[in-house]
Amino acid sequence: MSFDRSVKIAPSILAADFSNFGEEIRCVEAQGADWIHVDVMDGHFVPNITFGPNTCSSIRPHISTVMDVHLMIAPVDPYIEAFAESGADIITAHVEAGPHIHRTLQSIRANGVKAGVALNPGTPASAVADILDITDLVCVMTVNPGFGGQSFIPLEDKVAELRSMIGDRPIHIEIDGGVTAQTAPSLVRAGADVLVAGSAVFKGGSVSNPSPYGANIREIRAAVG
Ligand code: DX5
Ligand code: ZN
Repeated sequence: MSFDRSVKIAPSILAADFSNFGEEIRCVEAQGADWIHVDVMDGHFVPNITFGPNTCSSIRPHISTVMDVHLMIAPVDPYIEAFAESGADIITAHVEAGPHIHRTLQSIRANGVKAGVALNPGTPASAVADILDITDLVCVMTVNPGFGGQSFIPLEDKVAELRSMIGDRPIHIEIDGGVTAQTAPSLVRAGADVLVAGSAVFKGGSVSNPSPYGANIREIRAAVG
């Protein structure tokens, strides 16, 4: 994976048909997705359950772009190897998920995967100040994690603060939660380059009618210029 700051749209398969991930991924990639965002939830760190590393392994062959795995689980460390073996390109863990985020990021990188750190809406940017040198992506949650389709929490100031802390380091700023063509522009102006979008990409479409996925992606892309 090479690094650049062009805007990337990462549809979250949380909003796709869970019985048909392979076809959903093929359709959304054909319609212009840059990355595929994969939400793993454990019913403990967040109040919802999705799936684990076996499902990630099963969907991996269907992804030809980037597999961006967002772990909303605690603890994280015992499962890093399994998610790395599932073929993730990026594994993101929450700073709130345990006392040793530094060790978690080291372990993700030691498994040959890009290391991301996610911040809940109530966690300040300063929480990542001392780990930026071992971080490849900071995910700013603009909803409280656990569910798709929630209302956006405006956190542009946090994004701008992170952008200035990051400076020239090759670190992505990803936004996750409530991203739409309306909410995306100010986030990109503040310094975000990866936009996760679940409902805003999958709304109105299906594998038998995938063109709305493309129209939705183009609408977000056009809004951020
Ligand atoms: C929320 C997940 C998000 C979610 C985004 O816990 O991490 O990735 O799927 O969904 P929307 O775009 O519908 O807010
Ligand atoms: Zn997510």
